[in-house]
Amino acid sequence: MKKRVSVIGAGNVGASLAQMIVHSGIANVVLFDIADGMPQGKALDLSEACPLWGSSSSIIGTNDYSHTEGSDVIVVTAGFPRKPGMSRDDLLHANAKVVSAVVANTAKLSPQAIIIIVTNPMDVMAQVSFKISGFNPERVIGMGGILDSARFRTFIAWEMGVSPEDVEALVLGGHGDLMVPMPRFTTVKGIPITELISKERIDALVERTRHGGAEIVALLKTGSAYYAPAAATYQMVKAIILNEHRLLPCAAYLNGKYRVNGVYTGVPVMLGSKGVENIIELKLNQQERIYFEKSVTAVKSLVDKLNL
Ligand code: NAI
Ligand code: 2OP
Repeated sequence: MKKRVSVIGAGNVGASLAQMIVHSGIANVVLFDIADGMPQGKALDLSEACPLWGSSSSIIGTNDYSHTEGSDVIVVTAGFPRKPGMSRDDLLHANAKVVSAVVANTAKLSPQAIIIIVTNPMDVMAQVSFKISGFNPERVIGMGGILDSARFRTFIAWEMGVSPEDVEALVLGGHGDLMVPMPRFTTVKGIPITELISKERIDALVERTRHGGAEIVALLKTGSAYYAPAAATYQMVKAIILNEHRLLPCAAYLNGKYRVNGVYTGVPVMLGSKGVENIIELKLNQQERIYFEKSVTAVKSLVDKLNL
């Protein structure tokens, strides 16, 4: 019996993620949205692609939460994306309402599930979901750092003219404009980028990474990025479903590590079937610590606005 992944929100990110899961065949999918007929239509379309992909995954589209019962993983992409000129933080109150309702409805039907939060502002929405679900923090995780690191990897690969798969990068902190790309832990086939690229160019690539989401919003004009976000979320789903023990930057609940207490933010974690198996604590240098603390403070100040 394949495991079940419920994807809540069948918009751009949710539907793209559903496609990746079904195409890979690693799990069955329940695609939920409040829009009448839309998740059903997308699920039918994806079902009809399965014979062509050679996939035995099943997918149903629904507006009924009861279909999500017994899920192994719940991915929350429901909510509003940004419009040009908006920051992720502008979505705070509207998306907190949506995410609270989604988590209240899904957590009770799937009490053993791992919850992955995508909806923005993601670190804050992870905190909301942790609170509403009552789950252990290991089972509520946010997606941001994998996407931000993928953007950094892409820009470095272009700069060097090498394949992006040979670039490893790390971005810590909240998934917002104060995220913390970490050149010291970024390599091309094991060679630190600080030995390959000038400081001025690294600074420029760091800056482009920080605004990678906004760059796409400005180009699309309606909505935000979804192919890379879905691919990043897929890595997390796969790590959990296949118990891969992957080391990935995700938003995790910090309770002492990194000198942070009671806040979700992006750090390297080991991800497997139980969720966060371990949080890897890096020794930050003085400059990195300043950036990291600024980013955590920004997340905290949004959490405070919600009076959780
Ligand atoms: P979208 O607008 O294409 O899809 C959102 C879907 O949520 C819509 O289909 C809508 O009907 C649905 N929805 C709204 N309220 C709902 C509710 N109460 N229950 C169930 N479904 C509901 O947006 P997109 O592009 O898929 O983005 C979704 C969210 O993910 C946004 O908040 C966006 O900012 C965020 N995002 C986060 C990323 C990250 O790295 N963490 C990356 C990309 C997007
Ligand atoms: C992004 O970084 C909108 O958070 C989303 O593209």
